[in-house]
Amino acid sequence: MMQDWFKKAKLGIFIHWGLYAVEGVPESWTMASGQMSCEEYYRQAEKFTAEKYDPKEWAKYFKAAGANYVVLTTKHHEGFCMFDTEYTDFNVVKATPCGRDLIVPYADALREQDIKVGLYFTNTDWADDDHMRVILDMTQEELDAMRKEKTAFRTMWEDHGPAKPEQKEELDACWQRFMTRYKGEIRELMTRCQPDIFWTDVMLQRTGFSWECKDVKKMIEGIKPTTIVNGRLGDQGDYQTPECYIPLRPLDGEWELCTTMNDSWGYQKQDHNYKDIKKLVRMFVECLSKGGNFLLSFGPDRTGAMPEEVKKILLEIGEWTGKYAEAIYPTGAGLDPAYFLGGSTLSEDKETLYLFPYDCSTGQLMLNGVRNKVKKITSLTTGRELKHTMLGGAGWINMPGCRWIELGKEDMDDVCTVLKVELEGPIDIVDINRNAESAGEN
Ligand code: GLC
Repeated sequence: MMQDWFKKAKLGIFIHWGLYAVEGVPESWTMASGQMSCEEYYRQAEKFTAEKYDPKEWAKYFKAAGANYVVLTTKHHEGFCMFDTEYTDFNVVKATPCGRDLIVPYADALREQDIKVGLYFTNTDWADDDHMRVILDMTQEELDAMRKEKTAFRTMWEDHGPAKPEQKEELDACWQRFMTRYKGEIRELMTRCQPDIFWTDVMLQRTGFSWECKDVKKMIEGIKPTTIVNGRLGDQGDYQTPECYIPLRPLDGEWELCTTMNDSWGYQKQDHNYKDIKKLVRMFVECLSKGGNFLLSFGPDRTGAMPEEVKKILLEIGEWTGKYAEAIYPTGAGLDPAYFLGGSTLSEDKETLYLFPYDCSTGQLMLNGVRNKVKKITSLTTGRELKHTMLGGAGWINMPGCRWIELGKEDMDDVCTVLKVELEGPIDIVDINRNAESAGEN
């Protein structure tokens, strides 16, 4: 169920960590695209050591960044479990030299820093024969053969239709066995880690085989009623998760943008294409302004070390979020850019408007369509009070003019400037759909 803390959290960190960190290849998709056979891909387990895994250190960086929640992959589509489980041997304890559960210590470390715990868990599981036989409509022999070859299993996106009568009994049994493991693993994670967010992903479909989303949600909430589920558990999600694109307008209800720091979800050693701090902050501000959260992903390497670039970015984000905390947490969505060319947020009592101008080059910023008197405008960068004047306005039809804010060079922040506008009373703006009216007609 949606919780108040999520709406206030604003910044989250997403961690994609799994076997793929060994060769530094795209998570799971490397085998689904035919780049590697499943068998080759799974051999990465032999080198998954995690010897430098220090979740307490991770948690310090997340805290420093100003993140209030973190989501870590416990199982990606490849099917490898980063936790101890009785439902498959293909897990970090039994199948790797690492030999220990990685998820419980992560949850503990975050809680020590008062950060909410999110667990990513894929619905679909490409290592599960029963699941794959149903989804790909294959016999066990066909599946075994496929796993040895470099095969793009594109047909997983197709609905292969209801089982043929002669297969029905067998495939139903496959699906039941898979669902028992699927629910069992969720139960294990829920019970042991008591996550604040259960973040599910990719749900492949086949007519006649149900994911029982309602029951799964019930089970999750039965174990911890306050756990939030993202929007990828059929229609049972509590919020929407646009991926790698920023919605142009605020979405209905709660939402979170998930995206990558560089071009990859997980660790890829050749990928140094990290977005610079200005871009990341701008993306974050876009989310804040539209009432959404920002979930930013990186990938630790196979040892569990966080790339140096990631550490640097987290600290840089932290410098900005620390300095402008009052404009970020907790606030609500701000104004449409028609009112102000930049991002904006509103304090909870709606009497303070925070502005994040996107272009300060002229030193003259325009705020349009806001009727309130203004008590004071300050640059949060320097604390200096700024001059502002209201020009124009058509009082007889209750249309305010434009407020011009004068910004000096010294009031600007290289990363993103923030202004505080203290209003008299809660914000009162012109309806964005109101069309021009002439004095004569009124
Ligand atoms: C996609 C991809 C996956 C990634 C996820 C993050 O659904 O399948 O690789 O983990 O998005 O949102």
